[in-house]
Amino acid sequence: MTRRMHLAAHFPGVNNTTVWADPRSRSQIEFSSFEHLARTAERGLFDFFFLAEGLRLREHKGRVHDLDVVGRPESLTVLNALAAVTDRLGLAATVNATFNEPYELARRLATSDHLSGGRAAWNVVTSSDAFTGENFRRGGYLDRADRYSRAAEFVATARELWDSWTPDGVPRPFAHRGRHFDIAGEFGLPRSPQGHPVVIQAGDSDEGREFAASTADVVFTRHSSLEEGRAFSADVKRRLARYGRTPADLKIMPGVGVVLGDTAAEAREKAAVIRRQQTSPQTAILTLEQIWGVDLSSYDPDGPLPDIDPVAEPSLTRGRTRRGDTVAIAEKWRALSREKGLSIRQTVIEAGGRQSFVGTPAAVAAEMEEFVRQDAADGFILVPHLTPGGLDEFVDQVVPLLQERGVFRTEYRGTTLRSHLGLSEPPRLPLSSAP
Ligand SMILES: Cc1cc2nc3c(=O)[nH]c(=O)nc-3n(C[C@H](O)[C@H](O)[C@H](O)COP(=O)(O)O)c2cc1C
Repeated sequence: MTRRMHLAAHFPGVNNTTVWADPRSRSQIEFSSFEHLARTAERGLFDFFFLAEGLRLREHKGRVHDLDVVGRPESLTVLNALAAVTDRLGLAATVNATFNEPYELARRLATSDHLSGGRAAWNVVTSSDAFTGENFRRGGYLDRADRYSRAAEFVATARELWDSWTPDGVPRPFAHRGRHFDIAGEFGLPRSPQGHPVVIQAGDSDEGREFAASTADVVFTRHSSLEEGRAFSADVKRRLARYGRTPADLKIMPGVGVVLGDTAAEAREKAAVIRRQQTSPQTAILTLEQIWGVDLSSYDPDGPLPDIDPVAEPSLTRGRTRRGDTVAIAEKWRALSREKGLSIRQTVIEAGGRQSFVGTPAAVAAEMEEFVRQDAADGFILVPHLTPGGLDEFVDQVVPLLQERGVFRTEYRGTTLRSHLGLSEPPRLPLSSAP
């Protein structure tokens, strides 16, 4: 049987994916931008519209990070407004499990699910750096294991709350006593139209993958090459059995960029121009400084990479940013630059995120199908480089071809996001924790 793919739209925001210098770029805060992209996604019969979250403007060399100045409105507020101008599109909010409380967030998500007729989703993120935590009362100084143990208990608690009313609509008292939360009372809302909002996970560590396998309905990942995608999918899906789940219970959706052209050569040229626009000379140096952890403003973006090693604890950039073994990354980038004779800017372009699908609409449709057929993904979260018109071409030119190939829906069958994703409504949890 042909496998259907799932499609979602990422509203582009901070980071250098978005090309703000393009004359077609519009506001990232005004409602008309969100509305345009959401209506386009719904016209294309997408599963959902996705909003990321940043809880503190990042800083670089003590000033607001260049790529953050555009700002980012609070996700659930925006999505609730979009619920009124869309009918079927799922609405996915990224909300942090480290800096929120289960009762309050479960209430907000259930409200969205009621308002939208069963279209809400929650992307559970766990970012915990102390710099972001300074914005919050308790601070956010949890290590990774604690973040994920809090996130798992958070989601489990939210599910208890969502299920706490009787099927005929009578609130029942609940009590949750756990390691992270000790709360009791009555929840404010009956079970929502799709049972529980859809749960999405985005995090790549071993703990993150385990959390996804135990808890999530969808994984948002960065693994967007065929080989990486296959390895990632196989790894996460292998973990499902441990939790009594099957591969169909979890949809893996990498974030991808698409560039279309009338010919393959034209698409490649367009893609190269976009990559240069995404990586200005200043962005190239800034990216390098995030890895090296030192001021590199005296370096020429068109010159060679620094031959000094990164400092061990980079603190130049504060807030959610690239981490990992920076010495190894620097070594890899220097080797790439040497091998291909690339400048700093060219190396950053070459090593950084690339568009995953570049070609004619027919070639892109075929390649996307191949990804799904080869188990590298269950679908894709499209990350356009233009706000808000960046999905127009894809919806007009690629969606009809995917439909012709029989790999994408020609109409919404159900009304809830769970039905779009082919996920069943979660069974009602027994209220075992009542006092
Ligand atoms: C594709 C992807 C998207 C993410 N988007 C966000 C986001 O919008 N906001 C946020 O605070 N964290 C975001 N994160 C961070 C994760 O929630 C997580 O905190 C981070 O990846 C560290 O966890 P890990 O070590 O398991 O990867 C994202 C991570 C991934 C992989």
